[in-house]
Amino acid sequence: MRVGVVIAAAGKGERMAQPVPKQFLPLGGMPILLHTIRAFEHMPALVSLLVAVHPRYLQDTERWCRALRIHHLTALVPGGSTRQASVWNALQHPSIAHVDVVLVHDAVRPFVSQSLLNRLLAAVQHAPAVVPALPLKDTIKQVESQQVRCTLNRSELVAVQTPQAFHRTVLVDAHRAAQQQGRIGTDDAALVEQIGVPVAVVPGEEHNLKITTPFDLHIAQLLLDHRQSLF
Ligand code: C5P
Repeated sequence: MRVGVVIAAAGKGERMAQPVPKQFLPLGGMPILLHTIRAFEHMPALVSLLVAVHPRYLQDTERWCRALRIHHLTALVPGGSTRQASVWNALQHPSIAHVDVVLVHDAVRPFVSQSLLNRLLAAVQHAPAVVPALPLKDTIKQVESQQVRCTLNRSELVAVQTPQAFHRTVLVDAHRAAQQQGRIGTDDAALVEQIGVPVAVVPGEEHNLKITTPFDLHIAQLLLDHRQSLF
């Protein structure tokens, strides 16, 4: 099974309220994105690793990758105006044609572990699409104009993470269909669901944090400092 990885790193990160997008903020002295790219360094069967970045950051990212001797990067590709468009651009890269499975990952989840990658790769041998997910701790309510409309059944809900693993043909078909029908998904699995392909779930990891707010960045720094003892 030949594996491709697409890292979506072309967002503006407006929720972080910083002059640079969140994936380029330093974590332990190195941009978050570089931690994320490194997490895939020892992945077996890796044939292509593509990173979609905003055209403005292509040169800087290339320079950082060179300085940190990142040898498993295949190419940087220009991102699009949505996450979906950024992933689609990466799927157009010629190297993707040679992979059986694509893992799509958010640049702002630097703590993805080898055991989660192994779990996804094992599951995707028997399923067309696999996502990691965690049960919810909070109760989720639907709200409108600051009023609760209803309470959702927590036992039926999970929080879905990345990487998400797909047979390449399924992922490409799902993106193409979404484009044709003008649909935008917040993750790739949503597009696959919409073409009627089943999506399997494997356990996610609590430390596979998505760094979105300044608070998350503090937590990420703590996780990095205590990584040896925590996971
Ligand atoms: O939009 P959200 O915060 O969920 O972003 C998830 C990931 O998608 C981030 O790593 C971000 O950089 C990426 N993204 C992208 N292209 C965009 C918007 C977001 O690659 N146009």
